[in-house]
Amino acid sequence: MNQAAQTITDKGEPRIWGAFINGEFTGAASGKTFPTFDPGNGEVLAFLAECDEEDVDAAVRAGLAAFPEWRRKTGAARGKLLMKLAQLVSENAAKLAELESLNAGKPIRDSKAIDAVTAVDALEYFAGMATKIQGDTIPVPGPYINMTLREPLGVIGGIIPWNFPLLQAIWKIAPAIAAGNTVVIKPAEQACLSVIYLGELIQQAGFPAGVVNIVTGYGATAGLALVQHHMVAKIMFTGSTETGKRIAAEAAQTLKPVGLELGGKSAVIVYEDAPIGHAASVAANAIFSNQGQVCTAGSRLFVHENIHDQVLQKIVERAGKVKLGYQMDPETTMGPLISRKQKDRVESYIEYGKANAKLVYSHSLPDGLEDGFFVGPHIFDEVENSMQVAREEIFGPVLSVLTFSDESEVLALANDNPYGLAASVITRDIGRAMRAAQAFEAGNVWVNTWGAVSSMAPYGGYKNSGYGREMGFAVMREVTQEKNVWVSVR
Ligand code: NAI
Ligand code: MG
Repeated sequence: MNQAAQTITDKGEPRIWGAFINGEFTGAASGKTFPTFDPGNGEVLAFLAECDEEDVDAAVRAGLAAFPEWRRKTGAARGKLLMKLAQLVSENAAKLAELESLNAGKPIRDSKAIDAVTAVDALEYFAGMATKIQGDTIPVPGPYINMTLREPLGVIGGIIPWNFPLLQAIWKIAPAIAAGNTVVIKPAEQACLSVIYLGELIQQAGFPAGVVNIVTGYGATAGLALVQHHMVAKIMFTGSTETGKRIAAEAAQTLKPVGLELGGKSAVIVYEDAPIGHAASVAANAIFSNQGQVCTAGSRLFVHENIHDQVLQKIVERAGKVKLGYQMDPETTMGPLISRKQKDRVESYIEYGKANAKLVYSHSLPDGLEDGFFVGPHIFDEVENSMQVAREEIFGPVLSVLTFSDESEVLALANDNPYGLAASVITRDIGRAMRAAQAFEAGNVWVNTWGAVSSMAPYGGYKNSGYGREMGFAVMREVTQEKNVWVSVR
């Protein structure tokens, strides 16, 4: 089989989508395929090439072959191709949004307004970055000029999750190729369609064959093969902490550096001076966005005892207004979870919450959604920070509410968690806000808001949420290596 990636949005027969290796769409060498689903109804959307070690090896070799010429191109030339891709993504934004929603379960209104738009912005930003990679000169003593060169690493392996497939792919691909690396991306087996479609646009944009390769397949086979490959220079991973640890251990065998963007259990602190409506809106958005399947989800809400009842009541009102439904319906504000497995997992946390905390809101499932993987908003009050629902990443629309009375107490509680991805604070007191920003053991802090991200601002975790940074100038250091050069002037 050697066929182009096919669209399936006409709802026709499921078709087979190839992997993108060396500039061409191709089946797995083994001929194997695996199904991908619409999580809103459980139906098979398409079949994907089930790549394994052999296909990953072909992709890595294609990346390796493309590398010398790609790195020698000027930054401006690489930037132009990225701009061309940005333009194609923009022109195909509606299609990409549709695929993202169908396959990942995201409400179509969000895919259109957030994912497709952010994707274009990121490509444009890193297009500009291609001409801004430069070293330093260092005034060393003696008759020397000392300078650093910033050089690409080679073939970078990107392994991404299913919650923001298109964006995650672009956040891995764009900075890496801007710097002159080539890339092999392994999207999550649950949601690949938008990423393969991006491969079509990469082909159309005119990138040389092998600069970007996309291998579809399972983590334990295709993902592991990429991590183990001795010619892959670095792994950039986003996903669970458990898998991140496994990847770091495996990568040690070939002394590969890894970048890890892992899970979270982010705190949102609402002080007693916070505007109630605003606080409730931020808190609800922080846990209900993308069905709670966001690594920075504000899943632990700490509310000051004086305003606890009012804030909680307003969040409950907001939960009641969530339109749980099929993701392609423009009215829908909350779609299905990604899979049966995730639904079961989230429901098991809900059972735990019912047994150990106080359930104050449980969204009922509208008729007609029985075949999809839907779980509506759930809110637990009287949660203790030591409970499972306060310690573990649930990855669903399940909010744990905790009450506090004192600033130092709540900052200690917010930090008393293995994760350190993000934290929010809501207060009108600037000193208190800044003390929280200083105190949080987290890589991303939001004051009076939640979830803001930009291609321009470094993004990443503390503690068990990983290491390395994406976005901004920070990621350019991750995708380059520094060479020091001494020149005698005598
Ligand atoms: P996962 O971390 O296992 O999967 C993420 C990616 O890693 C996928 O592409 C997968 O194929 C790949 N992978 C899995 N095992 C691998 C291995 N041994 N070697 C190389 N690659 C491998 O996440 P999963 O199992 O889909 O979800 C489980 C939980 O992880 C979720 O409930 C959630 O709590 C968390 N998660 C967190 C994400 C985040 O952004 N913080 C994203 C996805 C999941
Ligand atoms: Mg897993």
